[in-house]
Amino acid sequence: MIQIPKGCKDVLPSQAYAWQYVEAAARRAAEAYAFKEIRTPVFEHTELFSRGVGDTTDIVNKEMYTFLDKGGRSVTLRPEGTAGVARAFLEHGLAGGVLPFKAYYLISAFRYERPQAGRLREFHQFGCELYGAAGAFADAEVISLADAFLKNLGLCRVELRLNSIGCKHCRARYHEALKAYFAPHIGEMCEDCKVRFGKNPMRILDCKTEGCKRIAADAPRMLDYLCDDCRAHFEQVKTLLSEAGIAYTVDPSIVRGLDYYSRTVFEFVSDAAGAQGTVLGGGRYDTLLEQMDGKSVPAVGFAAGMERLLLVMEAENCLPPADTGAVCYLAGMDDASHAQAFLLAQQLRSAGISCETDLMGRSVKSQFKYADKTGARFVAVLGERELSEGAAEVKDLRASSSERVKFAELAEYIKRRM
Ligand code: HAM
Repeated sequence: MIQIPKGCKDVLPSQAYAWQYVEAAARRAAEAYAFKEIRTPVFEHTELFSRGVGDTTDIVNKEMYTFLDKGGRSVTLRPEGTAGVARAFLEHGLAGGVLPFKAYYLISAFRYERPQAGRLREFHQFGCELYGAAGAFADAEVISLADAFLKNLGLCRVELRLNSIGCKHCRARYHEALKAYFAPHIGEMCEDCKVRFGKNPMRILDCKTEGCKRIAADAPRMLDYLCDDCRAHFEQVKTLLSEAGIAYTVDPSIVRGLDYYSRTVFEFVSDAAGAQGTVLGGGRYDTLLEQMDGKSVPAVGFAAGMERLLLVMEAENCLPPADTGAVCYLAGMDDASHAQAFLLAQQLRSAGISCETDLMGRSVKSQFKYADKTGARFVAVLGERELSEGAAEVKDLRASSSERVKFAELAEYIKRRM
């Protein structure tokens, strides 16, 4: 039998309610901050990601789903949402429109990673991007949106970790310091880090190899190399967050796995659901749009991983109760009552009440069992007598009561009792 590709997951109807719940919370949070939805293609020209995400990142070097289309063009399934939004912003000349530009997305993304709990090859993100505002208020606003979203989901064991990785000026000095620190250890480092040493030594700080992690533990910290402007920016972000009552920890080890960041970087981390604890990550990226041959537009944003959020919500008991079935089940006893149930069901649906009738030729007893199993609230029974009276016997399964209700009054009756 053909099976699902490794690292992908089906969302079955019995699980979809939890996704819809988180997606609705995401939309509510974004719209409370006046972000509007943006939709971009699932695949883009490969160059967008190699230039945007950065050719020293694992994402670009090892994890992209890249292929030639039938026209011989190299295209890539998006490994994240930021680069596509930046491309759309530039392509539609939105820098000349109303700023700040604020957009959110709910997308699938693709990375060829080693699958484990919370790490998939096809995964889903809720992301927000804000363009045009260079000041610390924009960073604080975006972090506050992320914080509100997670708090609204009821999560308690999620912590905000914050760092600044400076701008291209102060980072150049930092790179020199890192190189001086790592140079004597280069022989002990993994092959990837030997390349990183030459191209982007900060990436070594993100290496998952035990040996490299040990060496990196005592490496110089970017925070000690920030220029005056970057330091002032970071201080203001921290002050704004404290004033807004958003708790954080400064964590100098956060460098993020994508190359486009500058200044503020942050991650919301949970210990509730195993190794993949980062449920949301983001930061400022003031040079990305310029790097993509666009105008220089300051930007800040984040993305949350939906699968990781759902794992953490389950571990913290924050998932809502599972969906129930139709509100009303219409049980028929013979051909004539089935036909009447079919018509009544249509009337109830147009009155906004979800309902079902028998499609399997089941006995009344089995229809009751089905209604009970699927969690219907009411069962309206129709037989020969009910048809002649023009009324159904309606059982309220929650109240364990039963009443005769005229067909014409059924919708009102159900609405009143719900
Ligand atoms: P990222 O840290 O690569 O950032 O991904 C954001 C979130 O997506 C992670 O914190 C994690 O929850 C989830 N995620 C990433 N990879 C996987 C995976 N293989 N399986 C399951 N979940 C995963 C970005 O993608 C940036 N574009 C965020 C951003 C937006 N920065 C600025 N704007």
